[in-house]
Amino acid sequence: MKILLIGSGGREHALAWKIAQSPLLTELHCAPGNPGTAALGTNVPLKDTDIDRIVTYAWEKAIDLVVVGPEAPLALGLADRLNKAGIPCFGPSQEAARIESSKGYLKDLCAEYDIPTAAYGRFEEATAAKAFLASMCAPYVIKADGLAAGKGVIIAETLPEAETAIDEMLGGRFGEAGAEIVIEEFLPGEEASFFAITDGTHIVPMIGAQDHKRAFDGDTGPNTGGMGAYSPAPVFTPDVQQQVMSEIIEPTVKALAARGTPYCGVLYAGLMIGPDGPRLIEYNARFGDPECQVMMRRMQSDIVPVLMGAATGKLEGQSFQWTDETAALVVLANQGYPGSYEKGFVIRGVEEAAALSDVEIFHAGTAMADGSLTATGGRVLNITATGKTGRDAIRQAYIAVDRIDWPEGFCRQDIGWRMLEREET
Ligand code: AMP
Ligand code: GLY
Repeated sequence: MKILLIGSGGREHALAWKIAQSPLLTELHCAPGNPGTAALGTNVPLKDTDIDRIVTYAWEKAIDLVVVGPEAPLALGLADRLNKAGIPCFGPSQEAARIESSKGYLKDLCAEYDIPTAAYGRFEEATAAKAFLASMCAPYVIKADGLAAGKGVIIAETLPEAETAIDEMLGGRFGEAGAEIVIEEFLPGEEASFFAITDGTHIVPMIGAQDHKRAFDGDTGPNTGGMGAYSPAPVFTPDVQQQVMSEIIEPTVKALAARGTPYCGVLYAGLMIGPDGPRLIEYNARFGDPECQVMMRRMQSDIVPVLMGAATGKLEGQSFQWTDETAALVVLANQGYPGSYEKGFVIRGVEEAAALSDVEIFHAGTAMADGSLTATGGRVLNITATGKTGRDAIRQAYIAVDRIDWPEGFCRQDIGWRMLEREET
């Protein structure tokens, strides 16, 4: 089977790594890929949002399955275009991807189908939004409706801060994405992610994971795409997992099918596990990055039949097998990330670190320049390790981090603290 994987991050390197282990694979193409995927397949210099050229490439190379990593090509309708050309695609249609690309759309869907989530209001106009705020309690959660690269959520502690956030968002701070806003009830609890794959009707549950969104130790500093992750997440007891499937994932898949926009691909549920059980914060129409990387380290079965089954409506009877071991991941990022940073510094020692037992290193923002590996992105390398316990996995990941020689990089030193606290009690 010839597979074309779209994207260039750590998530895509991990997917490529897992796909490359499949006996069903004959050729792996990655567009655009990164130095990590280059070792597993053929990197093709196509931008992930260049829909026309991706479809042409898939057609010319007689690709059997396209797997889409990031959300931007999905929101641009890549899956629709591929399906029209008769090329199976793992990833939802533009319409189904609205569960990620419009927060208001998702909230209305949850309300209609009784999916547990935060109470909310949708607004295009500041006076009505501020009147609604007055009926809520602090902290106030204000979101731009559209895709805002993970930055479109403001949690305001006071009413004046919340009002300023409303004025800024509706005033164009996030462009079109903020033309409409959603104001939500603040949900208390522990945040965690759960993943499931569906062909629009059948569902294969995956597993839970947790990431660390803040840049610095102690979960402080600005929000990032994620500075580390681990799986399993102890907060997902079998009961919680069962509730997530029956109260959130299954009704969502049914609702989208009933609306005539069946969802094909991975549903990434961002959840708050609180005193009343799990509630949905948001969906993403893609795998989490870096959560995908730790899931791939724990997956023991072949991923390709499930990806193909989801893309072709043949998921019935399929399942995954997972190791009970813990997988942990530490992100090495460029100093300055998530703000501005210098590019091009040389990174040494990656091979030595990757040679350690139970360690795999996934590339994200790296490039080869004059034969040297250099840092070109914000999140640059993903150091993953597995272990019998969370403590073993985390320790091994940090031993690997210490082997990498990149003075201009940084990482958090406390990845997995919640999990380790639970293990100790
Ligand atoms: P989102 O982009 O919707 O995932 O929101 C970004 C982050 O804001 C989430 O990861 C949560 O940490 C936080 N958040 C969003 N909505 C809520 C909510 N209703 N209650 C509490 N925290 C929230
Ligand atoms: N790790 C968070 C995300 O992928 O959105």
